Amino acid sequence: MAKDIAVPELDTVPVHVGVIMDGNGRWAKKRGLPRKFGHREGVKTFRAITRRAKQLGIKYITFYAFSTENWKRPKDEVDSIMALFEKNLDEVKDFIDEEIRVRFIGDRTALSETLREKMRNTEESSKHFTDTTMILAINYGGQDEICNAVKRISEKVKNGEVDTSEITTEMITEHLYTEDIPPVDYIIRPSGEMRLSNFMIWQAAYAEYYFTNILWPDFSVADFDKAIKEYGDRSRRFGGV
Ligand code: IPE
Ligand code: IPE
Ligand code: MG
Repeated sequence: MAKDIAVPELDTVPVHVGVIMDGNGRWAKKRGLPRKFGHREGVKTFRAITRRAKQLGIKYITFYAFSTENWKRPKDEVDSIMALFEKNLDEVKDFIDEEIRVRFIGDRTALSETLREKMRNTEESSKHFTDTTMILAINYGGQDEICNAVKRISEKVKNGEVDTSEITTEMITEHLYTEDIPPVDYIIRPSGEMRLSNFMIWQAAYAEYYFTNILWPDFSVADFDKAIKEYGDRSRRFGGV
């Protein structure tokens, strides 16, 4: 067990933090281990950072866990990631004990029925918590999400529920998987890659970014505190002056 680190007093914390959990494979490779060991280790980081988000007073934290493009990976790696989701949803009870609301975003239709049921149960049993919401993006892709929103709005136009002239950016936002969740303010990506990889491309329109070379399994609570502290120094203008 890592030692508890004092919770810093911060004047400004982002309302919604997005985390692209990257570098698990390289972490394992460096140790001569199969990639799945990196994913297993990455889960420990994910748990610690979720808890920290609540301690820091962050209202929403979204973790990118599996992208719509990650199906391209070898079957045994995909299978081991899916098995990890199932196992960890059994253990998610800890989050419920800590009063963290859990939600999922992404296209669930490609996931196993067992996993989907666990996802529904977890969402249901944590839905009354209001301090911190942890959102896990599984089979999530920003382009897929927008495409899905377009389909749903088109249906409404076809049924006569909505007129084309009434389509607004707010309406599109409400048809995304994130629906009522506020836009992402701050995106943290470890592992040295400087790209979004199809993560929240709509919601990140005005996001700030934080990149670090640390691989996700090595990313500590102190590293997270440091990233969140840096957010306080950013000057966000949203197109104004
Ligand atoms: C991120 O780590 C986890 C997933 C994409 C599921 P990677 O598996 O991408 O690790 P690297 O980038 O190969 O090191
Ligand atoms: C992004 O990481 C997806 C997740 C962290 C779930 P990838 O490792 O899949 O991204 P690329 O392929 O390097 O862009
Ligand atoms: Mg990667």
